[in-house]
Amino acid sequence: MKITADQLRNLYLDFFKSKGHAVISGASLIPENDPTVLFTTAGMHPLVPYLMGKMPHPAGTRLTDVQKCVRTGDIDEVGDSAHLTFFEMLGNWSLNDYFKKEAISWSFEFLTTKLGFSPDQLSVTVFRGEEGIPADEEAVAIWKSLGIPEERIYRLPREDNWWGPAGETGPCGPDTEMFIDTGKPACGPDCRPGCHCGKFIEIWNDVFMQYQKTEDGKFVPLGRHNVDTGMGVERTICMMNGLDTVYDTDVFAPIMAKIRELSGKESFETPEDVRSSRVVADHMRTATFILGDQKGGVTPGNVGANYVLRRLIRSAVRHARRLGIAPGFTEKMAAVIVDEYKHVYPELDQNRERVFQELLAEETRFGKTLDEGKREFDKTVAGIRRKNEFMGAKDPNYVPDTQISGKQAFRLYDTYGYPLEMTQELAKEAGFTVDVAGYQECFKAHQELSRANVGSAKSGLAEHSEETTALHTATHLLHKALKIVLGDHCNQKGSNITAERLRLDFTHGEKMTPEQIKAVEDLVNEQIKADLPVYRDMMTLEEARAAGATALFSSKYTDEKLSVYTIGKTRDDFFSKEVCTGPHVEHTGVLGHFKIKKEESSSAGVRRIKAVLER
Ligand code: ALA
Repeated sequence: MKITADQLRNLYLDFFKSKGHAVISGASLIPENDPTVLFTTAGMHPLVPYLMGKMPHPAGTRLTDVQKCVRTGDIDEVGDSAHLTFFEMLGNWSLNDYFKKEAISWSFEFLTTKLGFSPDQLSVTVFRGEEGIPADEEAVAIWKSLGIPEERIYRLPREDNWWGPAGETGPCGPDTEMFIDTGKPACGPDCRPGCHCGKFIEIWNDVFMQYQKTEDGKFVPLGRHNVDTGMGVERTICMMNGLDTVYDTDVFAPIMAKIRELSGKESFETPEDVRSSRVVADHMRTATFILGDQKGGVTPGNVGANYVLRRLIRSAVRHARRLGIAPGFTEKMAAVIVDEYKHVYPELDQNRERVFQELLAEETRFGKTLDEGKREFDKTVAGIRRKNEFMGAKDPNYVPDTQISGKQAFRLYDTYGYPLEMTQELAKEAGFTVDVAGYQECFKAHQELSRANVGSAKSGLAEHSEETTALHTATHLLHKALKIVLGDHCNQKGSNITAERLRLDFTHGEKMTPEQIKAVEDLVNEQIKADLPVYRDMMTLEEARAAGATALFSSKYTDEKLSVYTIGKTRDDFFSKEVCTGPHVEHTGVLGHFKIKKEESSSAGVRRIKAVLER
């Protein structure tokens, strides 16, 4: 069956709507309360508090959506036929509502009646159990009742059939994965679903989130029976249209066309050119979605999510150069991507200018150092080759050196902005390797960077959640206090919370005076002293606005129920009211003492505050 991405999204959401699910807006790509993960990696991620049963979801217990996801674990594989750093995930959830029977039956029904797959093409995998966690014979029985024969039901271990948690702790459980047999010949006697030869393509995953991974790495029962499912849009339309690669699908058509146009080539012939064109397409799409996100706040930088963004842009720039694409291309690529996706993700259009400015700035910055760095790299390689020649002539047993030292790689990073991965790519092209351990040693010695990096990589969500929840509530108080002290033009542009501090970017043209900073601190601390209750109500965006709530994003569906958090003596006599996914503390008295640590420029017309709670 031929199908476009638009058709697939609509088919999916309509189907689950017909099964009693509320269609909700997908969340930001930047996780709200989870400093252990840089980006939203699955549809379930923004739903963690609800899966855990911390609070009811405003839209009910059956939900469906399409979620923007970024996964960078396979970034080095990008350029082959299937790997992407950004993708859209279709999902449906039961929050302690229906369980395996409904989930599996609906997956089967959707695949066979809506997408037109034959039940004969379908193979499934289920969790085979391990000490302390039983095999999922219930799922096996359900698949059999639907007509899937025993020989196409594979019982596999945890490596294959367990999903989650998204961060280091949180909800997870056994899953059942659905594979379509493409009809290609098996690669050998062991070829089965999960094999990467291309015979079996995974199309959907139903996770039964009955467990929780704790900080000490144990899996304990969650006390709830949730369902979390995920189907990748790009991969599904690729397969349904009988295409060989995701880059041939309708979502990539205008992007690839633009790359061909900018490079002046009608098609890419060599494997290197094909790979470069795919890297440009993938990385530019991901960078555009990160910069155009509704939450904002991620700009190219040297740490965490900022570093990932920088790396994506810089890698795209480098591959674009390989293809002969002239500088200034990032904005042109982003324009195509924004226009293609804005009907599904209006935030891209709203943040259009920001996306273009940031891309251009990074492309220009990088362009300058790129030439110098490449000269430096070539010099290094030439030096090693000369040494090899010289030594080889003297000693026939001499083993040629084919490694770029850690120190050299670090110098390329530190002085010329070459990420390690890029030096590795260049090295590979020259037939060299890089001393990664040596590089990392140099990196660690680089005091400031290493401090910041270690801070964001350690420990789990559970440990942090109390701190981040408190900082999240403090962010609402700060946002309002800024509006009162500086004026109503102070709108939140980005927010980022770690266990240690909050960071808020907001629109304001000038540096704040010490008096203004003090006034904002005092105002926030007064609200904390007053120990105001925090109310949570559920309503539509229109109702929220009518009630005086600030809403940082637009809901895509007018009947969608959202959470509104009110901080005030009563719901009507309030200090702050914002549409927000939460969670928040129950009353402000627990926040401690609010202190602004830094006030600085973030970008043109945007200021940045870093603040802490002294508790
Ligand atoms: N969360 C599950 C996945 O990402 C559905 O595969």
